[in-house]
Amino acid sequence: MKEKPGSFIISVTSGKGGVGKTFITTNLATCLAKEGKKVLVADCDLGLANIDIMLGINPSLTLKDVVFGDKHLRDVIIRTSGGFDLIPASSGIREMAQLLFEKIQVIKKMLLEIDDYDLIILDTGAGISEVVLQFNLIAHQNIVVINRELTSLTDAYAMVKVMYQVFSRQSFGIIANNVCDEKEGLGIYKNIDNISKRFLGFSLDYLGHVQQDNAVPKSILRQEIPFLTAPRSRLADNFCTIARQVMNLPKNRKV
Ligand SMILES: Nc1ncnc2c1ncn2[C@@H]1O[C@H](COP(=O)(O)OP(=O)(O)O)[C@@H](O)[C@H]1O
Ligand SMILES: [Mg+2]
Repeated sequence: MKEKPGSFIISVTSGKGGVGKTFITTNLATCLAKEGKKVLVADCDLGLANIDIMLGINPSLTLKDVVFGDKHLRDVIIRTSGGFDLIPASSGIREMAQLLFEKIQVIKKMLLEIDDYDLIILDTGAGISEVVLQFNLIAHQNIVVINRELTSLTDAYAMVKVMYQVFSRQSFGIIANNVCDEKEGLGIYKNIDNISKRFLGFSLDYLGHVQQDNAVPKSILRQEIPFLTAPRSRLADNFCTIARQVMNLPKNRKV
């Protein structure tokens, strides 16, 4: 019997916080939804969930009702203005931030049962806590977001190294965020790629850059999705390029 294909699961992760994971997740998901893909985003920043805030929605059920209640992941899914579906999480709940391994396995099992999406994107928290590592492990592919700050580079490398040493992962996509132009993005990618090649022995995949756009903080304040409000901007163009790369990534991990 042929194995069921299932949904392609990617995680958007980083070493350092505040590099733009959630911003990239929501805009990438919007872009792919506009291109006709069926996309589900899961807010996996369990302690400080904020996709719902970014989108201006107030969900009545969240991941907390799955982990500590009797709900299935499917019960908490809501449709967003970006055209993609969302599994919202809750913010400021300590038990969620320090979720036990067994509880993450429950989420993992349910996620794998959701096999009718083209793509599931896990927006993780920052750092290399067990919760973040486990969500990265669930994904077929891990996308690491970096910016021009040196600490972002060293922390991203720490994430790649730990995922390699603990789970033998050797395939990572890199997105350079908040850059002036294509050249700066490529330069940032080359820095981390060189370090990975030298110390870990494998190369990283460059998925593209997202330029710094002064309109972004304002649009986040207005709870708008820049890809929707300015679909012809260079920023939107950046996301279209990344979206193509993401859909071409091989589903090379059995999860
Ligand atoms: N390309 C960008 N241009 C301008 N501002 C950005 C860009 N990417 C991120 N930001 C700013 O950085 C903030 C943090 O982004 P966020 O996605 O919440 O980071 P993370 O999820 O990695 O913690 C956003 O609220 C936004 O104001
Ligand atoms: Mg975030």
